[in-house]
Amino acid sequence: PETGCLSIIVLGASGDLAKKKTFPALFNLYRQGFLQSNEVHIFGYARTKISDDELRNRIRGYLINEKSAPGQSEQVSEFLQLIKYVSGSYDTEEGFQLLDKEISAHESSKNSLEGSSRRLFYFALPPSVYPSVSRMIKKCCMNRSDLGGWTRIVVEKPFGKDLDSSEKLSAQIGELFEEPQIYRIDHYLGKELVQNLLVLRFANRMFLPLWNRDNIDNVQIVFREDFGTEGRGGYFDEYGIIRDIIQNHLLQVLCLVAMEKPVSLKPEHIRDEKVKVLQSVLPIKDEEVVLGQYDGYRDDPTVPDHSNTPTFATAVLRIHNERWEGVPFILKAGKALNSRKAEIRIQFKDVPGDIFKCKKQGRNEFVIRLQPSEAMYMKLTVKQPGLEMSTAQSELDLSYRQRYQGVTIPEAYERLILDTIRGDQQHFVRRDELKAAWEIFTPLLHRIDDGEMKPLPYNPGSRGPAEADELLSKVGYVQTHGYIWIPPTL
Ligand code: BG6
Repeated sequence: PETGCLSIIVLGASGDLAKKKTFPALFNLYRQGFLQSNEVHIFGYARTKISDDELRNRIRGYLINEKSAPGQSEQVSEFLQLIKYVSGSYDTEEGFQLLDKEISAHESSKNSLEGSSRRLFYFALPPSVYPSVSRMIKKCCMNRSDLGGWTRIVVEKPFGKDLDSSEKLSAQIGELFEEPQIYRIDHYLGKELVQNLLVLRFANRMFLPLWNRDNIDNVQIVFREDFGTEGRGGYFDEYGIIRDIIQNHLLQVLCLVAMEKPVSLKPEHIRDEKVKVLQSVLPIKDEEVVLGQYDGYRDDPTVPDHSNTPTFATAVLRIHNERWEGVPFILKAGKALNSRKAEIRIQFKDVPGDIFKCKKQGRNEFVIRLQPSEAMYMKLTVKQPGLEMSTAQSELDLSYRQRYQGVTIPEAYERLILDTIRGDQQHFVRRDELKAAWEIFTPLLHRIDDGEMKPLPYNPGSRGPAEADELLSKVGYVQTHGYIWIPPTL
């Protein structure tokens, strides 16, 4: 049942992820009425010995800021009262027995609510403790109500470092929980424009005949950040940009761009199609990869002096199927670049038998801007307005801020946590999907880890290594000169 007493347990409650993402998302759900105070209780669990109030005070500052609506501070206080703190270790039964006692006490106080109980365990924890925490939950904290309900766990990357370590972790968790109980978060699947991809592709006649190798020349999926790894160099150096962004976030987006139409909107049908795309990706060729590391990255005291970790990567993926053979999917991600944005850029082929000689002005492109300034725009050639018969680049523009004024776009985590409560796994990564994603990148990652492939240096605040742009044009991307899309200011 999706009703009845609900306990949300945030494990690692005093950590960064919990404070910055999990609790604010829970608060936003509460504020909008998705979490009712007569049925929900939130438990924070961590090793530090602090009181309920100390935890509440640590969180408060993340829930309210100068942009908050008037009256919000009262809502914050009400929300904070729903939170109770339990301290204990991650690998002994004692703490988890205590946690279970607290959850059960809350459940019996609410047993007027049909008696069923729902327990959601959110792992805001380093993955090294996932196996022991899963074991403890299984042993001490499962829902035992005769009247139904469920126990679910929510986990987030990094899921291992390569195929073997990821499979090991999946097996350890898989022994304890069934797949429908496991929610693997990839927060890119919670972004508004990523969620729109399915609608865009399959509810619009216009795109159906165009979305293939006959019309599309190349696809780029790009993530750029204009800041470095400051403050988390230690974590980042272990993983690098491919594991941090490309193998998960960008690859998930690729699946949604490239997959066939699912049989229905059922989560399993959608995920079946995503797995097929991943399984059709050919091995990545060394000459279709450019790695970079920004100058100054190793100055971070938590980064080893001789680190070979890339902070930038461009890799071309080739999908071996009827729809996409010959179309390069260029995945590109970098830290400390000249701008911050994430977008999908679908570039169409040139017009055959062109009579306007307009090639130099640029190709048609369909751009989906995931962030910031969410938008979709289609770049096209039009007649330059005026007496002369000349052509110019322009765009059909659907900018969200302008078109949907007054509509707040929810945070990715907000949506995804709501899905975990509702039991909808559509926007979560299935075990076989994760495995297929690791299969694509593991050989390349091992070559980098072994020092056989080396990142090229680039200046922080630049476009990244020039070799990446050369690779782009080598595989067919044609950059438009003298045209730039400007997000409307509103
Ligand atoms: C995280 C990465 O998964 O995504 C970070 O670990 C990155 O390195 C972040 O900064 C980007 O998320 P968003 O939602 O800001 O694009």
